[in-house]
Amino acid sequence: MDIKIALVPGDGIGPDIVSEAVRVLDRVASKFGHSISYKEIDAGGISIDRYGMPLTEDALENAKASDAVLLGAVGGPKWDSLPGAKRPEKALLGLRSGLGLFCNFRPAVIYPELAGASPLKDSVIKQGVDLLVVRELTGGIYFGERGRSDDGEEAYDTMRYSRSEILRIAKKAFEAARIRRKRVTLVDKANVLESSRLWRETVSELAASYSDVTLDFMYVDNAAMQLVRNPAHFDVLLTENMFGDILSDEASMITGSIGMLSSASLREDSFGMYEPIHGSAPDIAGKDIANPIATILSAASMLRYSFSLEKEAVSIENAVKSALSDGIRTRDIATEGEKCVGTKECGKEIEERI
Ligand code: IPM
Ligand code: MG
Repeated sequence: MDIKIALVPGDGIGPDIVSEAVRVLDRVASKFGHSISYKEIDAGGISIDRYGMPLTEDALENAKASDAVLLGAVGGPKWDSLPGAKRPEKALLGLRSGLGLFCNFRPAVIYPELAGASPLKDSVIKQGVDLLVVRELTGGIYFGERGRSDDGEEAYDTMRYSRSEILRIAKKAFEAARIRRKRVTLVDKANVLESSRLWRETVSELAASYSDVTLDFMYVDNAAMQLVRNPAHFDVLLTENMFGDILSDEASMITGSIGMLSSASLREDSFGMYEPIHGSAPDIAGKDIANPIATILSAASMLRYSFSLEKEAVSIENAVKSALSDGIRTRDIATEGEKCVGTKECGKEIEERI
């Protein structure tokens, strides 16, 4: 297969970890007889420095012209004082909406080798943690009307959803649940928000077409509590954009290792953008200590979702598991006294196991 990938290394540790994912992808390509070409795109802080804006038209066009996007991370303290529309994060939001990626999958799983890293008690972890946050990604308060009063003393952001926006993401959640443990939990704030009531109504109606899947509902505050009290309850957690942002960070920490978790942002066709859940960690950028595994696993998701290359995706996931069980650890996932490897060595160890 001929594959055109847009690479968006971004800022901070972005370039460090994206190079390791490329190393692994190249090995997969040569082993399975595919040809992968890469087009590097500037987005985030690096684009602000070079072109005065977080995402240029040209960058977005290049992303659109590719088959899939692999992104590192954007942002850093250097650009923190910029106004909202000029911040590096705007690049991420621009890519998501510009590419129409309304469906965000954020799986949180515990690797048995790393169970000790979870901040939760063994007795809770033992019940099993294997959940998928399905986050709506191009609507809600992130993209609603916002503004300030003339005197600057008042500000507002708006959460708006249409039935069709809810339907398309809810379908993705039910489809995902079908090949998992067949439970969808809709997380909302329907006791207060009208938009949440529309979510409940729409998702309940849709549930009739997925009679093999169990649907339950949870208010977002309760969900935040249940995630640490009884994470085993969750299979697919379906929610709107901002709740999903918050809960996916919480879910990732349950696994003890935000450096391990990948995400996929999808739309109806096979196009997708893949990125680690973690941020740009500017304090450790360029020091060869960042954990590249989340990005490497994001590359595996890319092969699976965008190119239906299941064998190839599994070969990466197995290489990661094998490296972990052989004790390969970057600093963030090492327990005290364990020997650590750097970003590059970690990438090479995984590459060799493909
Ligand atoms: C995420 C991030 C982004 C978000 C930021 C960087 C805009 O937190 O991908 O979860 O809020 O969506
Ligand atoms: Mg977030």
